[in-house]
Amino acid sequence: MSLLPEQPQDQYWMAKALRYAALGLGETWPNPSVGCLMLTVGDNENTQFHLTRTAAFGRPHAEEALLSIPSLKAKDSTVYVTLEPCAHEQKNLSCVDRLIRAGVKRVVIASQDPDQRTNGIAVQKLIEAGVSVTVGCLEKQANTMQQGYIYRQRYQRPMVTLKTAISLDGKTADSKGNSQWITNHYSRRRVHLLRAFHDATIVGIGTVIKDNPMLNCRLKRFEHRRSLRIVLDRQLRLPCTSKLAQTSTQFPTWVLYRYDSENRRSQLEKMGVEVHLLPDMSDISVILSYLAGKGLTRVLVEGGAKLHSAFFQAKLVDRLIIFQAPILLGSQGVDMTGPELKADIEQPYRFKLIHTRKLINDFYYEYRQA
Ligand SMILES: NC(=O)c1ccc[n+]([C@@H]2O[C@H](COP(=O)([O-])OP(=O)(O)OC[C@H]3O[C@@H](n4cnc5c(N)ncnc54)[C@H](OP(=O)(O)O)[C@@H]3O)[C@@H](O)[C@H]2O)c1
Repeated sequence: MSLLPEQPQDQYWMAKALRYAALGLGETWPNPSVGCLMLTVGDNENTQFHLTRTAAFGRPHAEEALLSIPSLKAKDSTVYVTLEPCAHEQKNLSCVDRLIRAGVKRVVIASQDPDQRTNGIAVQKLIEAGVSVTVGCLEKQANTMQQGYIYRQRYQRPMVTLKTAISLDGKTADSKGNSQWITNHYSRRRVHLLRAFHDATIVGIGTVIKDNPMLNCRLKRFEHRRSLRIVLDRQLRLPCTSKLAQTSTQFPTWVLYRYDSENRRSQLEKMGVEVHLLPDMSDISVILSYLAGKGLTRVLVEGGAKLHSAFFQAKLVDRLIIFQAPILLGSQGVDMTGPELKADIEQPYRFKLIHTRKLINDFYYEYRQA
């Protein structure tokens, strides 16, 4: 297998494809959001670019969408793809075969597909068909953007973002358990964006009973996003009067439960809630592998304290996002984690700060697991 080195403009074009692909995160699962950019030469010899990404619900793939553009002159073009084109399509032609058939001259790939049905196979096919291939252009950025898909393929679990809103003294609610609203309007808008760009938002039943949240994205231009709302609720306590149950035909809602209560289950199902019986809900890795099996690649955990403890304890928080407001809620307020989380100064749970931002009076902190 012989790969060609990067050319001077490759990173510029790949960055465009990556930015465009990132806009599709949260709506293409179980498939990755892939960006595809083609450079062609126009009638008056000027370079033109065409950009597509994986469509909502994962179909059509970015390459298929691109090659369906009417009057596209794909022959002898250069194509940039954020992930190795699939080689395993069963019903239709695979993306790699489409590119070969279209007569493209060069393909630049950011990262190889961890799916064993494609990994390296598409690259090999392209080379054998006489196409020039470059692999690894902005690979690190691509792997970060596609982390959810990569984790599902490699570790059979979705990528986990845990988000919480805290006061200066680290409390997530006051002494009565009220948390609405700790942070300002700008922070809350960002939370809505986070929901839009994840496949699902997960909460514990304690938060539903206390806060009765909607957990959807209510930002203009993102209202069409239908990221799942998932409640971890062993005893199926989700009230039929909750906003989640009441709006479940509009916004998909799942409840993961352990103990069957026939009456409640059928009531919730009639309302449109999808109920999932799990034999073991104490182990977060079992829950995540179940969700990966259902196709989820990126989940956002939104509390409360008990659920946070369980995710931290299992070391299954890949990205931690904290919104901090300039208020004090006092020592009786609710902590970010419950007493279940055991740690000490010798062995603390450690994170690496990767991004901060000021949101008027609030602060946004983004961490990755150290
Ligand atoms: N500031 C913020 O960002 C924020 C966000 C959310 C919530 N909050 C606040 O947090 C408080 C609620 O927190 P909470 O700790 O009481 O409740 P919680 O963490 O939301 O829910 C805990 C419950 O989830 C269920 N559960 C199912 N599987 C679990 C698992 N594997 N591990 C742990 N729990 C599991 C358990 O009930 P079953 O045994 O019945 O299943 C458990 O009691 C409220 O005051 C709310 O306002 C603040």
